[in-house]
Amino acid sequence: MLRLGVLVSGGGTNLQAVLDSIEKGEVTNARIEVVISNNQGAYALERAKKHGINALCISPRQYTDREEFHRALLNCLRENQVDLVVLAGFLVAIPPVIVEAFPNRIINIHPSLIPSFCGVGYYGLHVHEAALKRGVKVTGATVHFVDTGTDTGPIILQKAVEVKAEDTPKILQQRVMEQAEWVILPRAIDLIANGKVTVTDGKVSIED
Ligand code: GAR
Repeated sequence: MLRLGVLVSGGGTNLQAVLDSIEKGEVTNARIEVVISNNQGAYALERAKKHGINALCISPRQYTDREEFHRALLNCLRENQVDLVVLAGFLVAIPPVIVEAFPNRIINIHPSLIPSFCGVGYYGLHVHEAALKRGVKVTGATVHFVDTGTDTGPIILQKAVEVKAEDTPKILQQRVMEQAEWVILPRAIDLIANGKVTVTDGKVSIED
């Protein structure tokens, strides 16, 4: 059984998709051990509690410096014996000390087709604003392993979503979530939990 640690900062709809997929049996061999937010007010923490899952806030404000905050985060993941860290709308950069402790064992959901609209400054609604500004006709979402760069790790799954002429960033964000994020994040966890994902030379292969 793969023990998941899910890191969140906001509403937690991706967390909800994972919770529901586990409950429906669409994700097997995985259980959420702990949900951690950097933000005390994150609704994602309530979602976890409603499912009886240990939900904690570890905020940089509780620590004297960034290093201590990172250490607290890492300790919490270790104490909960987390096998796979899932970044589900976690808007804090993961420091090298955590990436190195979990090599190819941290995944992130990003709301675009990487390498478009990713990297520093591209998160949440900003991603969709940039996509609309550029006038792309197709966007989507990506699940990737996390390395020490920003959105540069090996790509596990991607799903495309149509952009419509009348879209606003919020409308597009909702469509990308419904049609892509909430589908590929649980699917990626299921594939990893069932030993179907391997990384070779920075590229992912998936066993059918
Ligand atoms: C999601 O759209 C996720 O892809 C994005 O934040 C949102 C969180 O929503 N993540 C990033 O932009 C990371 N670069 P949620 O809290 O409802 O799951």
